[in-house]
Order: sequence, then C-alpha cells, then structure tokens
Amino acid sequence: MTYRKKLIEVALPLDEINAQSSREKSIRHGHPSTLHLWWARRPLAACRAVLFASLVDDPSEPDAPPGLLDRMDELPKPDPLPAGWDGMPEDKRRRQRLFTFIRRLVRWENSSDEVILGTARRLILAATDGNPPPVLDPFCGGGSIPLEAQRLSLEAHGSDLNPVAVMITKALIELPPKFAGEPPVNPQSRKTADLSSWRGAQGLAEDVRHYGAWMREQAKERIGYLYPAGPDGETVIAWLWARTVRCPNPA
Ligand SMILES: C[S@@+](CC[C@H](N)C(=O)[O-])C[C@H]1O[C@@H](n2cnc3c(N)ncnc32)[C@H](O)[C@@H]1O
Repeated sequence: MTYRKKLIEVALPLDEINAQSSREKSIRHGHPSTLHLWWARRPLAACRAVLFASLVDDPSEPDAPPGLLDRMDELPKPDPLPAGWDGMPEDKRRRQRLFTFIRRLVRWENSSDEVILGTARRLILAATDGNPPPVLDPFCGGGSIPLEAQRLSLEAHGSDLNPVAVMITKALIELPPKFAGEPPVNPQSRKTADLSSWRGAQGLAEDVRHYGAWMREQAKERIGYLYPAGPDGETVIAWLWARTVRCPNPA
C-alpha cells in the first residue's frame, strides 16, 4: 500500500490553534485542569487538531479516497474567501476548507458540539476506510491526548510511570463512559430528580457534587477547628505548617 501524506505533514492553521491553546489557560469551569493540577498538561485544542490532522489525508494526495475529498468539498468555504479563490487549484481550496473547519473544531466552546465533532469523525472514517487506528499515548500525563482521541470516537489507550497521572487519566477517560447515561445514585437526587433525563456523565457529575459536599462537611466537622478564619473573619486560602528546631551546633 502506498503511503499517503497526512494534513499535519503539509500545513496547519497554527496561529489559531496556538491562540485557542493559550486561551484554555484561563478557562476555570469544566476544563480538566480544574479536576487536578498536572504541570505538563497539553492544551486540548492542540491535541484535538494534531489527532485530526494526523488521520486525515492532505488533499493533494493523488490516492486520497474520493469519499474523503467529497466530504472536504462539503465543508464550508473560508469566510472571507482568500484572494484568488476562484482560480485556486482544487487541492489548495480543499486545504483551505479543512483549515476553516479546524479553526472551529479547536474552539473550547465547540468541545461538545455534536455537529462539529460528527463532521470530524466522518472525515476521519472516510480517510481510514471506516477503520481508524487506536491511539496510544504511553506518556499520557494529565490525559489530554487520550481524552481528545475519545472525543473523536477513536479507541484510546494511555499509560504513565506516575500513578497520579494514571489516576487523573482514569478519572478523565475511563470512569465517565462507564456511567454514561446513568442517573445519580445519591438519595437526594433520586428523591427529587426525573431519573430518565440524565445524559452523558451528568448523573456521575451530580453524585460527585453530592458526595463531595458531604465529604467537605464531614471534614469541616472533624478537623475544621484546625483551620480557623483570619482575625477579621477572612477565609484563609493556604496554610503553611512550620516547626522550629533548635540547632544542635553549640557554637
Ligand atoms: C510531558 S508529560 C506528558 C503530558 C501529557 N501529554 C498531558 O497532556 O498531560 C510526560 C509524562 O511522561 C511520563 N513518563 C516519563 N518517563 C516515563 C516512562 N519511562 N514511562 C512512562 N511514563 C513516563 C511522566 O510521568 C509524565 O507524565
């Protein structure tokens, strides 16, 4: 089989991918970085773009599947149209359509947009004869690459030497699918909520909130006295514990 160059080997809309990657640092709600700190976490926008562009052929490939090229032609045109669009060779026009699509795909706000993700998945399937390869990240850290692979419906695997990284990645990509579509189990939600209306990981999230609040209350009751408020009632946000040790050197 002849090797077909992928989009990532030719060009990417790097400025927009970088801008979206850097924007993620200031997202405080719903981003995996708020689950647990991981120092070397890779931005989701970059991982999403890299996975997509590593699987979809560059449109200049002579053996690119016709079904894939048709799908590229269905993508919206860039707006505004680049100069010389009408006289532009077909492969360049398709690449511009792919760039326009990637710019939308990598936006944080579109992370659960099923229309955009569905388009990405169909392009990947068309590029891989309906059989995309599994993705393995042997140094998965905070799990960005397996998470984005899963979002694109790819079979995702990850491993890491550090057990904290393994735990974060498990919480991110292994546990939520196990509870997909399940209602919460905590007694309060079961009493009050409609148990048929839970989508994705909403039920699990509700339980994490419920039992997290319960644990916080328990901790406050048992050890709260060790963490008093500031002199004027301020909330203390960090505690440093220190112990004085007398120097054993008599001089
Ligand atoms: C740069 S971080 C990976 C970041 C990850 N892509 C993310 O988005 O969070 C590199 C990871 O490699 C792991 N690592 C280093 N040496 C390793 C080894 N020999 N086997 C497995 N993991 C290793 C580290 O624990 C660290 O989590």
